[in-house]
Amino acid sequence: MDTDKSFTSLDKNLFGDNFAWGVSTAALQTEGSCDADGKGPSVWDTFSNKRGKILNGHKPTHACEFYNEYRRDIDLVKQLNIPNFRFSIAWTRILPSGEGEVNQAGIEHYNKVIDYCLQQGITPWVTLYHWDLPQALEDKGGWTNRQIVEWFSNFTTICAKSFGDRVKHWMVMNEPAVFTGAGYFLGIHAPGRTGLRNFLPAIHHVVLSIVAGARILRHICPDAQIGNTFSCSYIEPYADKPRHIAAAKRADALINRLYIEPLLGLGYPTQEVKALKGIYKYVQPGDEANMSFDFDFIGIQNYTREIVKYSFFTPYIGASLVKAQDRGVEITEMKWEVHPPSIYEMVKKYNSYPQIKKLIITENGAAFPDVVFDGKVDDQRRLSYLQTHLQQVLRAKQEGYNVEGYFVWTLTDNFEWAEGYHPRFGLVYVDFENQQRIIKASGHWFAQMLG
Ligand code: NOJ
Repeated sequence: MDTDKSFTSLDKNLFGDNFAWGVSTAALQTEGSCDADGKGPSVWDTFSNKRGKILNGHKPTHACEFYNEYRRDIDLVKQLNIPNFRFSIAWTRILPSGEGEVNQAGIEHYNKVIDYCLQQGITPWVTLYHWDLPQALEDKGGWTNRQIVEWFSNFTTICAKSFGDRVKHWMVMNEPAVFTGAGYFLGIHAPGRTGLRNFLPAIHHVVLSIVAGARILRHICPDAQIGNTFSCSYIEPYADKPRHIAAAKRADALINRLYIEPLLGLGYPTQEVKALKGIYKYVQPGDEANMSFDFDFIGIQNYTREIVKYSFFTPYIGASLVKAQDRGVEITEMKWEVHPPSIYEMVKKYNSYPQIKKLIITENGAAFPDVVFDGKVDDQRRLSYLQTHLQQVLRAKQEGYNVEGYFVWTLTDNFEWAEGYHPRFGLVYVDFENQQRIIKASGHWFAQMLG
């Protein structure tokens, strides 16, 4: 496979022997089989059945059929020479209504997936919560109900006891800022709630649940590495003017600091975003002691940069994003700017927290319109995206910043939430009509580099 010669310098050995190379996925985006073997509905099953919520009316019902055909895709991970495979556990397979009786078929399923990874010499990295909340719990208030700390603790205990003998890398939750921001404030993701009265309690209960989950994992699996993953974007002000600089600081607090800071023991960034002060209404005496955890690693997930402008009309935050498509820059299918130095800046930014022991890029990747020609997918733009981003990771590493792993988002094209199947992020192309797979040029390149 032809790859740009200037990237021959991207030798995996330059990243060191302890660098974790991997690929990331999530249950709802890949598994399909939405009601197989006793699985209960999640908020995404419900949300995708509502009109106009998902682009083109797509549903996660079949996705990549990873539930039944997990061997096919784990075989691909192996074929691509990828040593670490990140996937998530669907809460509704283990506990169909979120609490109550355990569905043994769900436990057996993940036992098989984990065992198959290990048989193939692949290390499983498991996320406990990648956004697919049981609908039965949402009906009781979901993340706005403080009782969720107990529901989530119970789910975590079952997973830790069932799989902890073999799973040694755990991530408690994936991108809390995105599932609470999009799902409980903007209403564009499941469960589709809006406003501060949903957003603020959700934030606090998510923080308490992450800490409760992490402590349970630490107790039941003392030899495991425990982390959590966070979305982050490099934020720059629209112009070098005090009002834009201040707006960029507020956006940074909301986008990049909202969760990591309380979890590191630094509290909520209410100084920058005054509207967040309402969160104290939900903070009870004694909570402070249960809001932080000493994680073994922090996963950061970066895709782009945002340019932020002062905006009088945007409530609460007084800032708005200047769309990448209006800036004349290269964009992906998600309309996100391609800006490789962002990932370097994010590694630097999170290195400035002395509490972070180890940083891992748990997601990075891009969606581009792929075409199959002659049975092949020559995705040069994705290839270049991955190479230029990895160059920046290497730059950070060579400058002495702590970054100990890189996971591509994602293995196969899959269900991209409210965007449906349209944006393709995979190293492997999926024909959703017949579930055929084609390893893209980017996949061949990654395999060659890791080989
Ligand atoms: C972050 C999320 O964790 C993942 O589920 C999503 O598909 C990718 N980013 C791309 O948007």
